[in-house]
Amino acid sequence: MKKIVFLTGAGISAESGISTFRDSGGLWDKYNVQDVASIEGYWRNRELVLEFYNVRRHESVNTKPNKAHLLVAELEKNFDVTVVTQNVDNLHEQAGSSKIVHLHGELMKATSERDPNDPRCIVELGPDNMDIHLGDKAKDGSQLRPFIVWFGESVPMIEVAVEEVEEADILVVVGSSLNVYPAAGLVHYARPTTPIYVIDPKPVEVHTNRSITFIQKKASEGMEELVSLLLK
Ligand code: APR
Repeated sequence: MKKIVFLTGAGISAESGISTFRDSGGLWDKYNVQDVASIEGYWRNRELVLEFYNVRRHESVNTKPNKAHLLVAELEKNFDVTVVTQNVDNLHEQAGSSKIVHLHGELMKATSERDPNDPRCIVELGPDNMDIHLGDKAKDGSQLRPFIVWFGESVPMIEVAVEEVEEADILVVVGSSLNVYPAAGLVHYARPTTPIYVIDPKPVEVHTNRSITFIQKKASEGMEELVSLLLK
């Protein structure tokens, strides 16, 4: 089976009602990213950051995968599919994708403040315990924090993601402005013979001299067009 790797961003979840970051009206229009999504912001005001992610967890609880997530999962019938996502929602999981690499963490998980990547401290948050408050403890006794990779923190899964892209026969970027590194740099690891598709309603600047096939549509329509191209 040919190997297809999807690099997804907030845009693939837009039609599920989840706000993107850099569109007008997006999350970073409403909040200062340095205050709520950086490690410095967390140490400056832990309660503000804990509350920001509590609110996003409550907002996410009624969201469902949209057609784009479902089509990505369905392609597993014809391809060896890996989803490398920058999203912290679990819509790819809900849609049935079986191989998902979360580069920026997962909203419905919590971990240790002292060692966020200690696997013994990573716990699932459920619909009846979605909030993290100051004083909640992780298994190592330190403060519990969101299992999110903040600006200023390393991206532990980037090496795994690079290997996936290096082995891809097809690379598809869906719903990412490719503004944030190291995720955005993944496109450079595709082999010269690997076609790259970008699905996005707006033009996306891909810093590469590679030829890119742009499908300038929303994720659900764009994925339909991609599937017809791949399966024809
Ligand atoms: N379908 C497809 N793409 C869409 C749609 C849609 N319905 N609506 C918007 N988009 C596109 C936008 O045109 C934009 O290119 O999705 C992209 C969203 O870009 P960003 O908001 O920058 O989101 P993303 O690229 O995922 O951000 C990367 O930045 O703040 C950090 O950690 C955060 O993971 C996030 C990272």
